[in-house]
Amino acid sequence: LKIICYGVRSYEKPYFQDLNKYNFQLTLVEELLTTSNAELAQHHDAVLLRGNCAANRENITKFNEYGIQYVFTRTVGINHIDLDACSEFGMKVARVPSYSPNAIAELSLTLAMMLFRHTAYMTTKSSFKNFIVDEHTFSKEIHNCKVGIIGVGRIGLTEAKLFKGLGASVIGYDVYQSDAAKEVIPFTTLDELLAESDVVSVHVPYLPGQNDKMINASFLAKMKKGSILINTSRGELQDNQAILDALLSNHLEGFATDVFPKEDELFFRAFEPWQMLPDPTIQKLVELYPRVLVTPHAGSNTVTALSNMIETSYDNFHDIVTTHSSDNLVPLPVL
Ligand code: COI
Repeated sequence: LKIICYGVRSYEKPYFQDLNKYNFQLTLVEELLTTSNAELAQHHDAVLLRGNCAANRENITKFNEYGIQYVFTRTVGINHIDLDACSEFGMKVARVPSYSPNAIAELSLTLAMMLFRHTAYMTTKSSFKNFIVDEHTFSKEIHNCKVGIIGVGRIGLTEAKLFKGLGASVIGYDVYQSDAAKEVIPFTTLDELLAESDVVSVHVPYLPGQNDKMINASFLAKMKKGSILINTSRGELQDNQAILDALLSNHLEGFATDVFPKEDELFFRAFEPWQMLPDPTIQKLVELYPRVLVTPHAGSNTVTALSNMIETSYDNFHDIVTTHSSDNLVPLPVL
């Protein structure tokens, strides 16, 4: 099988080679898939994507012309793939439902604790040789506080356990409440969770048309005054302007995000210090550091996550070729 893999960072290449136990013929492309590099997929049988790859109708149509049948992704999320187009062309789509919940959960916990203990504020001050302990460094302790997890799937449940390990009282909200999660934390209504939590952490898939901007002004108004919000799931869930307003009114004390709506025009590149970011609201949010902490969609950027996402993707390809099926096929819309 000839597979073209998009969005393979240079330091990731040895993992793609070393884990290639099925001896696939691999083309490793550093850039994410865009409309300008889709033609590199010619003469391949399959495509392997990461998040932020533009698997839109235009590119899927090109893949179909090249005879590609398998459009697989090494991510949990599939919102970067036009599933209607894949279904129309009879392509198969597979994903990696879980590669390392800890990778994302650890990042969420770290960001939350940085805001909670004002760590970025203090270390930044120290780097400017200012060692004054002022009122902005004064903190509560997490074991006396409540953490609300919205979306208690694999990642949310892992974060719940990590916070419980720190002694925090953890509550959850999810439309689907698994037995495994119910054994670990009590579930509440969304409104209760928002009203009671000192830290709110979001782990929700983006479902276009269903939960766009769910973190909006009304959601934020329901949050406890002085609380902290973390989003390491998808940027489309957040209304940046509403979050900025909640920070500026001091209703929200801190915000950390690993994601932004339209983040592909921002992430994975370096702007000059004098350059304005393409989105003025994001520019203002970034300027609120250290009350706003931004990481560039790097939750999954760990050795374990990378290895597992590659291994599962290779298994997905092997299964589909040898058995015409795979446990990780994404159900496609019936057109
Ligand atoms: C996912 O797996 O859904 C992620 O967010 C990871 C990233 C590489 C896009």
